[in-house]
Amino acid sequence: MRIEPAAALEGHFAVPGDKSISHRALLLGAVSDGETRIRGFGRSADTESTLGAVRALGAEVHDAETVTVNGVGLKGLRSAPIDCGNAGTLARLVTGLLAFQDGEFTLTGDGSLSSRPMERIASPLRSMGAHIETQDGHLPLTVTGSQLTAIDYELPVASAQVKSAVLLAALGAQGRTTVVEPTATRDHTELMLREAGVRITARPSSVSVDPPTSLRLDAVDVPGDFSSAAPFVVAATIVPESRITIHDVGLNPRRTGLLDVLDRMGARVGILTRRRFGQEPGGDVEVRAAELTATEIDAREVPLLIDELPLFALLAAHARGTSRVHGAEELRHKESDRIDALVDALRALGLRAKAHPDGFEVTGVPARPRGGRIDARGDHRIAMLGAVAGVASREGVEIEGFESVGVSFPGFHDLLEQVTRR
Ligand code: S3P
Repeated sequence: MRIEPAAALEGHFAVPGDKSISHRALLLGAVSDGETRIRGFGRSADTESTLGAVRALGAEVHDAETVTVNGVGLKGLRSAPIDCGNAGTLARLVTGLLAFQDGEFTLTGDGSLSSRPMERIASPLRSMGAHIETQDGHLPLTVTGSQLTAIDYELPVASAQVKSAVLLAALGAQGRTTVVEPTATRDHTELMLREAGVRITARPSSVSVDPPTSLRLDAVDVPGDFSSAAPFVVAATIVPESRITIHDVGLNPRRTGLLDVLDRMGARVGILTRRRFGQEPGGDVEVRAAELTATEIDAREVPLLIDELPLFALLAAHARGTSRVHGAEELRHKESDRIDALVDALRALGLRAKAHPDGFEVTGVPARPRGGRIDARGDHRIAMLGAVAGVASREGVEIEGFESVGVSFPGFHDLLEQVTRR
């Protein structure tokens, strides 16, 4: 795929529903009593994997514009093999739910997912009494349902997926489970569990769950995915004369760290209106092009923009000075080693970037970068980074493996073309 330079980005538009929330709505809908209607479901290869999984586990899904799930009850999932595809969120979260079901389940995934760490969920779940086998800490993973007991668990890494796996297992465990976080991560699971009637006690750095007898979700209103809005926010910031408005975007503060970072860098981003999507905050975001200055991101802030750090690298390449990210070792365990992938991509475009074990640094260049060719390494976030670099370049960017965008945002290229003036 080749992305040509843009004169500006313009227009009003929306992005597809939040991927994290869509996964959770399907999974919690499947173990609820009765029907869950999911409005604004975010369609992507990853959420299709979850849709296939909940069907295989015995929940009936009516796949229309509003997706309807007929829940089988908290302990009603039936034995099945599950193909997680590329979806880490599915693999980690569903294992928590399966740990207390009456059955045996084997999870597989594609090459990328099969190289990502699973011991991080297997270990706390085992200490709750779960029977889990992995292949040297990786997929394929087999979980055999058993009686679980509550734990107090301190997360060794800041990960919403690990936190969620434990919280979901806690639904079927005896006693009150508490998870302590080293630093706050996205709280979509907690918010949706509360919506489903579960007693959740959330404190700034820990969360406790009391096991319910049943869940009832009824309706989930999914806001636009902030992580799918982010490439447009960044493109409109760095392509001169741009002005865009993105409607109905999820604005959960545990997801919008990029907005705080942009603010420090001197960007012109405004929230026009705010509204709620169930328990989740959202609103309209307006972005105009701006001159940027460098900034630093530390471990405390990293989880609030974990999926936007590749895009941050591109912002940094357009900012005056040297920007640095620390405490982001987790980036090495995503769909690719994102530290190496983003540094290589920036360098391939003639930009100044350097990898560190736990982050990276980027020094801005005063002119538009020339462009060139990058390798997405099968990683949707790196492919989108390449596309944004393309519209902001002088000669365009060619992206190898661009089709990986379908993992989170199949309509990304069409929307980018629609809002680009050349
Ligand atoms: C996600 C959590 C994050 C994020 C991923 C989605 C979630 O992963 O990178 O894209 O939906 O809980 P980690 O929890 O592994 O950091």
